[in-house]
Amino acid sequence: MARILTGIQSSGIPHLGNLLGAIIPAIELSKDPKNESLFFIADMHSLTTMRDADALKENTYATAAAWIAFGFNTDKNIFYRQSDIPEVCELMWYLNNITPYPMLANAHSFKDKANKLHNVNAGLFTYPVLMAADILLYDAEIVPVGKDQKQHLEMTRDMARTFNHIYGNTLTEPEASIDKRVMIIPGTDGQKMSKSYNNFINIFLPDNKLRKQIMGIQTDSTPLEDPKETENCNVYKLYALLASNEQIKEMEANYNGGNYGYGHAKQALYELICNKYAIERERFNELMNNKNLIENELKKGAIKARKIAKDVLGRVRTNLGY
Ligand code: ADP
Ligand code: TRP
Repeated sequence: MARILTGIQSSGIPHLGNLLGAIIPAIELSKDPKNESLFFIADMHSLTTMRDADALKENTYATAAAWIAFGFNTDKNIFYRQSDIPEVCELMWYLNNITPYPMLANAHSFKDKANKLHNVNAGLFTYPVLMAADILLYDAEIVPVGKDQKQHLEMTRDMARTFNHIYGNTLTEPEASIDKRVMIIPGTDGQKMSKSYNNFINIFLPDNKLRKQIMGIQTDSTPLEDPKETENCNVYKLYALLASNEQIKEMEANYNGGNYGYGHAKQALYELICNKYAIERERFNELMNNKNLIENELKKGAIKARKIAKDVLGRVRTNLGY
C-alpha cells in the first residue's frame, strides 16, 4: 500500500484546465486499490496571497465540491482541509529550526514571487516549510505535483534527511511523482488556461453564463463559407480534448467542408461540455447549495488525517526531547 498525498490551493473555482490537468488524473490514480490517497485543500498556503475571508471560504468549498463531484472517494481515501489540522503548524516550527536560511532565500518560486510583488510577507518566504510539514506529518511516500513544485519536494526531502540525521530516524522521506505528460489545456485566448490570465472556462457556471464564456473563445476572421484550419483553432483544440474520436472526425469534416462557422463550432463545444459533464455539474451545484454536505465530508477527513498527524507528531516530540 503506497501512501499518496497532494495539496491543492484554494485560490479560485477549479476551471477546465485544473480539472483535466490535475483533478481528474489524481482521482484516477486514487482508484488503484494499492494506494491510499490523502488530498487536502491548502487553505493556509492561500493566505500568502489572499486577503478576502469570504472568497477564501467560498473557494475552499468550490474546490472541495469539484473533487467530490468528479468522484473522489472520500471513504476509501482521506480528504481534508489543511486548516483543520493545527498539528501542521507545530511540525512547521520544528522544521523551521533545521532549515538553512539560504535554502529558502534561493528557492525559485520565492525569488519569482518576491520579484513581482512589492509586499513580500514572511508567509511567502516560509511557504516551503509549511509544505514540507504538510507532507512529513502524514508519512507520505509519493507526492504527485506539477514541475513547478519539484524544488519544494527536494527541500522537503532535505528537511526530512536533516531531521533524521540530528534526531534519529523519525520522518519518512517522500518521492515526488512529477507528471511528465505535457497536457497544457489552452484557454479562450490560446495561452495556457489560467486564473491569472482570465482566459478560463468554468464548467460549473449556469448554462447561459457557460455558453457566454465559450462564445468568447478567440478565433480568426475566416468567413463562414470558407473551409477552416483546425490546427491553430482554440475552439477545435478544446473540442478535441473532450470529444470522442467519432465526434472529432465529424468536426474536422465540418471545418474542411466550409459553410460551418466558428459560432457553430462553439455551440457544439458548449453542448459537448453540457452533456459530458451533466452529472458533475449537477452534483457540484447540489453541494454548493448545501454546504453542510461538504462540511461533513471535510470533517470526516479531518478526523482520519488528525489521527495520523498525532501519531507522527508524537514520534517527533519524543525524539526532540520533549
Ligand atoms: P492557475 O494557473 O489557474 O492559477 P494553478 O496554478 O492553481 O492554476 O493549478 C492548479 C493545478 O492545475 C496544478 O496542478 C496545475 O498543473 C493544473 N493546471 C492549471 N492550469 C492548467 C492548464 N491550463 N493545463 C493543465 N493543467 C493545469
Ligand atoms: N504548493 C502546492 C501548489 O501550489 C500546493 C501544496 C501545498 C502541496 N502543500 C502541498 C502540494 C503538499 C503537494 C504536497 O500546487
